Amino acid sequence: MIRTNGIDVSYGELQVLWDVSVEITTDDRVVALVGPNGAGKTTLLKTISGLLSVDDGTIELFGHDASALTPDEVVELGFVHVSEERNLFHEMTVEENLEMGAYTKRERIAENRREVYELFPVLRERSDQPAGTLSGGEQQMLAVGRGLMVEPEILALDELSMGLAPQLARRVFEKVKAISEDTTILLTEQHVHEALELADRAYLLENGRIATQAPADDLLESDRIREVYLRD
Ligand SMILES: Nc1ncnc2c1ncn2[C@@H]1O[C@H](COP(=O)(O)OP(=O)(O)OP(=O)(O)O)[C@@H](O)[C@H]1O
Ligand SMILES: [Mg+2]
Repeated sequence: MIRTNGIDVSYGELQVLWDVSVEITTDDRVVALVGPNGAGKTTLLKTISGLLSVDDGTIELFGHDASALTPDEVVELGFVHVSEERNLFHEMTVEENLEMGAYTKRERIAENRREVYELFPVLRERSDQPAGTLSGGEQQMLAVGRGLMVEPEILALDELSMGLAPQLARRVFEKVKAISEDTTILLTEQHVHEALELADRAYLLENGRIATQAPADDLLESDRIREVYLRD
């Protein structure tokens, strides 16, 4: 379980998160974190990942005080964050990227790789191709696959569909749904409608504060959410 208790987070002098409390348990399947550009979604994921420190408040990660953990230890405990930047090793092949991802689960590389290839058959076809030459969608799949190589309890996917054509985004969301059968997903998305359809519940982050927390269906029906986020 991940719990942030009233955290404040800043970049230098600039405070970005204010009193943010969220809780994600492994009983959740898909939790969405939605909100406008600049609301602080990525900042929250980076803070949970151990990349940023909190000014105030605490974070509990699977029973540990996160302030004492390094980013690698956060991964070992079971929280993996597939970042907006994807952070693939562009010169390395698809297969090598998957192997690099498995650094805490070396003994299960072959099995986990097979599962990733079953989920994303295109990656098996491209297994010897340098990651930098994959299409945007394939790179996204590889980034997710690499995250899965450590068998996370909770997998955070930051703007997974960014840059993808709507049809491809839909396919990627279907994969997310399949992954969520075994792994809890924390999703941030610009496609708010799709994210809420996939999620069971959601947090709405506005100007660095949690504005609302509700079942995703309620947010889909909320007039204000419709007005601000679901105009299409
Ligand atoms: N490294 C940084 N240094 C200074 N300010 C930053 C840094 N990274 C983010 N910010 C600021 O923090 C705020 C929150 O950014 P963040 O990336 O968390 O938003 P977001 O909700 O993920 O937005 P988006 O939907 O555009 O991805 C923004 O105002 C941003 O300009
Ligand atoms: Mg972001």
